[in-house]
Amino acid sequence: MIAARRSRQLHLNAFLKPPGEFLAAWRHPNAVPDAGVNIRHLIELARTAERAHFDALFFADLVGVPFADQEVLRRVSVVNDSFEPTTLLAALSTATTRIGLIATASTTYNEPYHLARTFASLDHLSRGRAGWNLVTSLNDAEARNFGLAEHVEHEERYRRAAEFHEVVTGLWDSFDDDAFRYDQTSGIYFDDDKLHRLDHRGRYFSVTGPLNIPRSPQGRPVVVQAGSSETGRSLAAAVADVVFTQHPDAAAARAFYVDIKARAAAAGRDPDHVVVLPALSTIVGRTLTEAEDKADRLYALLDPRVALADLAYWLGGVDLSAYPLDGPLPQLPLSNQSRSAQRLIVERARARNLTIRELARGLARDDRTIVSTPEGVADHIQEWFETQAADGFNVIFPYLPETLDDFANLVIPHLQRRGLFRTSYQGRTLRENLGLPRPASRYARGRAGA
Ligand SMILES: Cc1cc2nc3c(=O)[nH]c(=O)nc-3n(C[C@H](O)[C@H](O)[C@H](O)COP(=O)(O)O)c2cc1C
Repeated sequence: MIAARRSRQLHLNAFLKPPGEFLAAWRHPNAVPDAGVNIRHLIELARTAERAHFDALFFADLVGVPFADQEVLRRVSVVNDSFEPTTLLAALSTATTRIGLIATASTTYNEPYHLARTFASLDHLSRGRAGWNLVTSLNDAEARNFGLAEHVEHEERYRRAAEFHEVVTGLWDSFDDDAFRYDQTSGIYFDDDKLHRLDHRGRYFSVTGPLNIPRSPQGRPVVVQAGSSETGRSLAAAVADVVFTQHPDAAAARAFYVDIKARAAAAGRDPDHVVVLPALSTIVGRTLTEAEDKADRLYALLDPRVALADLAYWLGGVDLSAYPLDGPLPQLPLSNQSRSAQRLIVERARARNLTIRELARGLARDDRTIVSTPEGVADHIQEWFETQAADGFNVIFPYLPETLDDFANLVIPHLQRRGLFRTSYQGRTLRENLGLPRPASRYARGRAGA
């Protein structure tokens, strides 16, 4: 086990998926049904998370609508009506002052110059609070919006992602930090020896550069990676500042934690500079009965057809209609979507001997959701944190705003009383709050004295 450091800080990321992660969250009586495009409501959520001192808030993204079946599609909110995340975070950057702002963007269906520019802009707009969740995208429906019949192959996506990241970080270093003089007297706007052209010629990209924006407050926005397949882990260890992940239990989380930190060290990085945040979904009540009532009321809102479609989706877009619902999961081809998500579900089915129907219901409810009291949730957090299963958590909210309010008002004070979580922001930038150094420019190494 890696030795605990005295200064080790718990980190919490608020995974906002309005109106909630649960597929029928929009039907909850306290939900804001149009939450995905309701800017007033989104500002309220961001401010609640900031008042609670979360390190960051985070928005997932797809570049398409996944469910083909209209009977399913017309019943779900979370996949087909929400703002593009970087646009949304630009707005939220003006409504908040300290919380980090992390948006998902695809390396498969973007060009690196666009993406480097967008996130550098967001880092400037927010004065150093931007983060990029680097994803390779998930499904065929997304591919079909970009001239392809099916999604790019898993390993090929990751090869492109690695070069994409290399280009983006190179572009972020285009100008030295002190390049801009804005000297009205001499007429010199910036020092041209502090401008670097990238001249990248690679397998996937040819990018001359430079990027047309000064180096951003964090030097480089925080990079998040959330793929946990073998290739996903390698990329995370090489490039990620933060890793989002999910595990069935603390033992699996500890094994992953040790593995990622060791891979980071092998890649020549300080393992403390890779912040590992497993998912944590909670429904909290003042008493256990209250928590269970809340969960039951929520779960009753889901149409079983939606649960089944969601299961088929996360298994890799398979057709389950040929198999009896009360029978076992059939053998499946290796997913070209998320291999780690597929593996988790298959392992859960096998370990608990679940039928397809039970599995679909469990997935929709997110079996790992902790339905408990504030003390119960705080105990879980403390145990995972102190036994090096996690550096903190990516907190998932089954329905909003209530589960965020409950986490902020009921759970966080417990963590603070136990000395586990901050009572005020120590840093100004997201990197500072995450305990991460500001990266040097790749061009700094070559300079005398650097
Ligand atoms: C917490 C979490 C959030 C994710 N968010 C997104 C997302 O918004 N968009 C996306 O395309 N993929 C998302 N993913 C998928 C991963 O980034 C990754 O691309 C996928 O799991 C495939 O990688 P793998 O096969 O290495 O697991 C997310 C995964 C996790 C665990």
